[in-house]
Amino acid sequence: MRWHRRKGSFAGETVVVVGGSSGIGRAAAAGFARRGARVVLVARGADRLAAAATAIREQGGDAVAFPADVTHPAEINALARAVADLGELGALVYGAGELELAPVAGLDLERARRAMDVLYWGAVMVTQALLPQLARGARRSIVYLSSLSVPCTPPFFAAYAAPKHALRGFALSLRQELRPLGFHVGLVSPGPVDTPLVAGKLHGEWFPLPPGIPVLTAERAGEAVVRAVVNRRDEMVVPRRLQAIAPVGYAFPRLVERYYHLTVRGWRQRLAEIAARFSSWGPEG
Ligand SMILES: NC(=O)c1ccc[n+]([C@@H]2O[C@H](COP(=O)([O-])OP(=O)(O)OC[C@H]3O[C@@H](n4cnc5c(N)ncnc54)[C@H](OP(=O)(O)O)[C@@H]3O)[C@@H](O)[C@H]2O)c1
Repeated sequence: MRWHRRKGSFAGETVVVVGGSSGIGRAAAAGFARRGARVVLVARGADRLAAAATAIREQGGDAVAFPADVTHPAEINALARAVADLGELGALVYGAGELELAPVAGLDLERARRAMDVLYWGAVMVTQALLPQLARGARRSIVYLSSLSVPCTPPFFAAYAAPKHALRGFALSLRQELRPLGFHVGLVSPGPVDTPLVAGKLHGEWFPLPPGIPVLTAERAGEAVVRAVVNRRDEMVVPRRLQAIAPVGYAFPRLVERYYHLTVRGWRQRLAEIAARFSSWGPEG
């Protein structure tokens, strides 16, 4: 059966959700399972993974927990082999996450590299490994968790926004390569979502929240991911009312800067204080 005839039903299909043990990935996985998919949840921590799979099964869904670290190619290959035994692969959702916030001058390079490995290289490697399986299915959908911090990049987000920008470039290129094969390659860009990723960071020194930017639940963002797959959306900002911000942010990045200056109390002074500390940071600092 072609994907468009069964669109919102995932009966008989497998959906791989990388980062499926927590937050947005976990909520999206539950959404796919409610629509009949067998979901394969991928993450490192076996306990959280098992708990997420059990919760889906208790709701009558079909979930398989697959512990793997996306920075380890051998574990990704093992995932691809395991998925090959699970029948038709309909969709891949990539939502492994790590949030490293700091001024560039004080950035821990090990952690920044790690963020690139998880947010970017993991997506590249998992995509390559699962493409043959996806191509054998009818739906052929891939969705990457991007971020509102791509069109609207604030300061202190360099280690997070850089891999997310890289991921966007990767997805835009891949989308065109795979279109002749009937693939869908989507980017879902949520604003802040209340998950363990941002716990202790949101509203902190490096992550103030300007007015007009709501904090979403994981369920709302997860549901958007499911809709992106069902409706084969190329780009989706969540919440929807912020969709218009994206083109503005890309075209006029200075407007994002000005908005922070105008709306975040003491922002200009905070940036100035940090800039003053720059001279004492770095290799000789
Ligand atoms: N929360 C937000 O405000 C927000 C906003 C925009 C975009 N996003 C993006 O949405 C995605 C999901 O974020 P979230 O907020 O739901 O985060 P989360 O609750 O912290 O979940 C992150 C998931 O990624 C897994 N993960 C992390 N490192 C991994 C690795 N090396 N290998 C395999 N799995 C790994 C985690 O499990 P283990 O730690 O057990 O491996 C967990 O399942 C991320 O890509 C994030 O950048 C989040």
